[in-house]
Parts: sequence; structure tokens; C-alpha cells
Amino acid sequence: MDLAHIIEAARVASLRAYAPYSDFRVGAAILTEGGAVHAGCNVENASYGLATCAERNAAAAMVLADPGDRKVRLVAIVSPSAAPCFPCGACRQVLREFGCKDVIVLEASGSPRGYPLDVLLPHAFGPESL
Ligand code: THU
Repeated sequence: MDLAHIIEAARVASLRAYAPYSDFRVGAAILTEGGAVHAGCNVENASYGLATCAERNAAAAMVLADPGDRKVRLVAIVSPSAAPCFPCGACRQVLREFGCKDVIVLEASGSPRGYPLDVLLPHAFGPESL
């Protein structure tokens, strides 16, 4: 599965965002270690605090799809409003739960750039901490 395909899945997901309050649309696509791709978009709510991020919705899609393939190789994140669009702190933690190695964001030029999740969330608390 090539990176361009994953980024395109994230871009398409961003077009499906339900973001009537912020108008900040985000799409995320997870590539699993097993080679599956799962996308998510942000979903807002009239009760603002209930908004869910694209990354966490992609993780939920992965969990639902296949209990045997829940290791995240990487996640690509695309927003038409921000370049680069980095995952929020809560999403970093959720991606960490599933062993995510790399976070791919798009620079202003449109070029992808990868960051190890360990760099974005150092000294993380994870499943092995319990
Ligand atoms: N959002 C995401 O979906 N992912 C991010 O990485 C940053 C923020 C959403 C949440 C909310 O719907 C909107 O963007 C503005 O915060």
C-alpha cells in the first residue's frame, strides 16, 4: 500500500467531515500492520464538547473492522484548513494505544512529512504501563 493512497483516503475523508460549527474539516486514514486502510472524519455536535476527531473515528473504524488487525503502522492526517494538521493530544494518546509508529501530515507545499509518534508523545503512558 503506497503512501499516496493513504493520503488520498484521508483527503477524501476530510470532504465527508461533519463540521458545521468550526468549519474545520479533518480526515484521517490509518494503515494497519496487516495492510488495511481505515478512514475517519471529524463529527461535531450542537453540544460542542461532544465533537470527535477524525483520528479517533478512524481508530474506531479499525477496531470494528478486524480484531486481529489492530496494530497501527501509520496514520495520515489531512485538513483543507491547516497544513500541517497535527493530531490533538487526546488523539495522540489513542493512536499510541494501538502502537502507531508514524504520523504523516501534509506541509503547506503539499508534501507529506512523517513524525515518529514517540516524538509527538514522548514518555507515553500505554497498555504496557499497567
Ligand atoms: N480536529 C480533528 O478532527 N483532528 C485534529 O487533528 C484536530 C482537530 C477537529 C475537532 C473539531 O471538530 C475541529 O477539528 C476543530 O477543533
